[in-house]
Amino acid sequence: MNTQAQVIVRHSDMLAHERIAAVMQVTAADDSLAIESSILGHPEHMALEEPRAIYQKWWVKLAVGALAVWMWLLAWLWRFTIGLPYRWMDKAHWGLGPVNGSLFFDRIHWLARQIRRGVTTSEALDATYAAPIILAEAKNWRDKVAQFWFWQPDASSVRNRLRITYQQMFGELERLWKTGQREFRVLSLACGSAQASIEALATFLRAHPDADITLTLVDLSKPSLRRAARLAQARGASNRVIIMEMNLRNFLSSQRNSHSWDIVEMVGFLDYRTEESVIRLTRDVLSLLKLGGLYIAAHIAPAGIWSFVTAEVHRWHFMERRTAVHYMRLLLLGGFLDDEIRLIIEGHRIHPVSLCRLKYSR
Ligand SMILES: C[S@@+](CC[C@H](N)C(=O)[O-])C[C@H]1O[C@@H](n2cnc3c(N)ncnc32)[C@H](O)[C@@H]1O
Repeated sequence: MNTQAQVIVRHSDMLAHERIAAVMQVTAADDSLAIESSILGHPEHMALEEPRAIYQKWWVKLAVGALAVWMWLLAWLWRFTIGLPYRWMDKAHWGLGPVNGSLFFDRIHWLARQIRRGVTTSEALDATYAAPIILAEAKNWRDKVAQFWFWQPDASSVRNRLRITYQQMFGELERLWKTGQREFRVLSLACGSAQASIEALATFLRAHPDADITLTLVDLSKPSLRRAARLAQARGASNRVIIMEMNLRNFLSSQRNSHSWDIVEMVGFLDYRTEESVIRLTRDVLSLLKLGGLYIAAHIAPAGIWSFVTAEVHRWHFMERRTAVHYMRLLLLGGFLDDEIRLIIEGHRIHPVSLCRLKYSR
């Protein structure tokens, strides 16, 4: 059954507006796993995951490293044989390699298949985020193999990033509420299915139903925005969510120097950008924040052998891993001052989350 999402859609360009209104004809097919299996807000799933000893064993690293080398070779073979036409038709697909990968990963479990199919998008993140609930009990050997892949350091760390983002966003809204503020403008850039921000919004609204709050979501992926719309509906928050299907570049240039947002979140996007782009984006976001406003972002760091495994076994390419120190330097070059930046580094040390508070007017 088709259900018109009760999501406010606004756009300065009327043509785009009409296009977006059609997109928001969402159906149950747009449901993310998060609707039924969100780790956010469940006390038993909110504790940060700690590194597990099994992934530090030399023989485990040797085995997964060998598998990753094998899949790397197969991907190159594919690129110059049956995959060759993609080089001209769809360069990104060509770069990613074949969708079907390995007997040891995606052919074993549907959740792993969802990663390889939707890699770099909210579809793959959806699977990674929901894994602790879906794979809580291993019913057969396939589930056990999937557990191994979904608990590997990169995957655990990305879930920790989600938990921290949710906690920080909710915590900041609560803090503002306690200061007497009753009107809030929250922005999620390159939001994907916007799990952290929608769940934080919904939790906040349960505590303060009268709060005058809007969450604006910006992304250029229709399927991701549809998933976000469905999640907002499922959490009863859709009348507070504004969805903008557009390129971040256009959105940022339309908002530059507005200094009108309380919270800006842009997690999971800088991982794919050049240094110059990270600096430019930081400058742009800084100019959106109200004085005292908070910018929540993150940047993926090197993870030893697991970087290679994520790239070749999970098929998650195109990422620029930088150390936390390097990332900090880019935030400084982007215009934030030393005492405005705080990094939260979780146990795996792979996804540092940055909190930048605009303390001084520029
Ligand atoms: C890895 S996902 C991150 C999703 C989400 N922020 C999260 O952490 O779960 C990156 C998102 O960036 C979006 N994206 C990539 N380039 C973009 C652009 N130029 N403008 C807007 N969104 C973009 C993609 O569509 C995708 O949803």
